[in-house]
Amino acid sequence: MSLDIVILAAGQGTRMRSALPKVLHPVAGNSMLGHVIHSARQLSPQSIQVVIGHGAERVRQQLAADDLNFVLQDKQLGTGHAVAQAVPMLSADTVLILYGDVPLIEVETLERLLTLVNDQQLGLLTVNLDDPTGYGRIVRDAEHRVSAIVEHKDATDAQKAIKEGNTGILAVPGKRLAEWLGRLSNNNAQGEYYLTDVIAMAVNDGLTVATAQPLDAMEVQGANDRKQLSELERHYQLRTAHRLMAQGVTLRDPARFDVRGEVIVGRDVTIDVNVILEGRVVIEDGVSIGPHCVIKDSTLRKGAIIKASSHLEGAIVGESADAGPFARLRPGSVLGAHAHVGNFVELKNAEMGEGAKAGHLTYLGDAVIGARTNIGAGTITCNYDGANKHKTVLGKDVFIGSNNSLVAPVDILDGASTAAGSTITQNVAAEQLAVARARQRNIDGWKRPVKIKK
Ligand code: UD1
Ligand code: CA
Repeated sequence: MSLDIVILAAGQGTRMRSALPKVLHPVAGNSMLGHVIHSARQLSPQSIQVVIGHGAERVRQQLAADDLNFVLQDKQLGTGHAVAQAVPMLSADTVLILYGDVPLIEVETLERLLTLVNDQQLGLLTVNLDDPTGYGRIVRDAEHRVSAIVEHKDATDAQKAIKEGNTGILAVPGKRLAEWLGRLSNNNAQGEYYLTDVIAMAVNDGLTVATAQPLDAMEVQGANDRKQLSELERHYQLRTAHRLMAQGVTLRDPARFDVRGEVIVGRDVTIDVNVILEGRVVIEDGVSIGPHCVIKDSTLRKGAIIKASSHLEGAIVGESADAGPFARLRPGSVLGAHAHVGNFVELKNAEMGEGAKAGHLTYLGDAVIGARTNIGAGTITCNYDGANKHKTVLGKDVFIGSNNSLVAPVDILDGASTAAGSTITQNVAAEQLAVARARQRNIDGWKRPVKIKK
């Protein structure tokens, strides 16, 4: 069975009160439309048509991809009109309609819906609601067969009492769609071309309408305002938290944990409260992450420990290495196995060898640091001359005293030491001690200045 997917994303979203088109508002770091496209792709359709209108250029720009076709709906004349704009592009056996502002729909639910559709049958996703106000109602005949959908604003009181609502998500035989859409009229309470009128047309043409329900009603919940957006966000985050727990992660509080991207986890990982994971984060077995950490596009190898309030981006933390509290690992930071980076240490494009240490208040940029080398507190690599970046290379078992300025380019070879307070501007050979600071003078009988009386 071949499949075309049409995603409706032309609406304005007035209630967002935003310059950003509604479907670009993010849930878990990805736009709502981005989530829908992600799910759509997993169904391997022959095409994905995105119907855009409000903020069309911005939507197209942000989401452009080879496998997407954008169709412009100039005026938003209704959901039926929106789908009709895509019709010239459709050729598959089945057309599935999704919505750019309904981001949490599960692939598994859509797969179930798609099993229902064939030449003689439509698949319709419905949801039972305590309060179906605003939803189209599913009208069934005496044999409980779906006969029509009536929009809330067009419904009689008896129809308004129906609790089964239309999610809008629908799978139809592609061959019939163009003809049904061509027959739509806007003679209704809202003066719109309703996609939902296709249901009664199909039934009149002798087809049946089979229904499926989502496992969780939040899957079909749209976001019309920022309150609803935040509800989708929380639901998504809780769902992700539960999935990670099922994979062997201890979350101190699943309600205080956020994933904005993709996380790959091992077993016996422990994550304390208020941790945010962004981009692609790989966390191997036995890793522990302290509270209030932000970790983006990074890999934490077995047994690594990230202590409270650390910020990592584009970093690799080696086996049993540790960082923090208050460590900042910027892109290109690599900690070897058992390396240690303590509080207020910033790394950028810097590699620490196995067991190397930088315990306190240090900046290491564009640096390679050998195994077991120790960097004293307050050390800075002066990697930037105002125009270009230069490299600092430290060998194995080097000892850098406290409060050193290492003026790059500079090499300090295996086993060398530098004295505290040194400004190192020349290379240091293996096993040498470099002292590069003013010699101390002690002055006897020093008289302190006295305050002049006015
Ligand atoms: C629609 C359904 C209703 C269903 C409800 C679920 C119709 C006529 N009604 O109603 O049965 O219960 O969704 O939320 O389909 N859109 C366009 N172009 C348009 C009109 C809409 O792209 O011309 C998009 C909107 O951006 C939105 C979606 O289609 O994402 C739904 O449109 P909306 O006007 O919100 O439909 P509802 O009145 O909610
Ligand atoms: Ca709606």
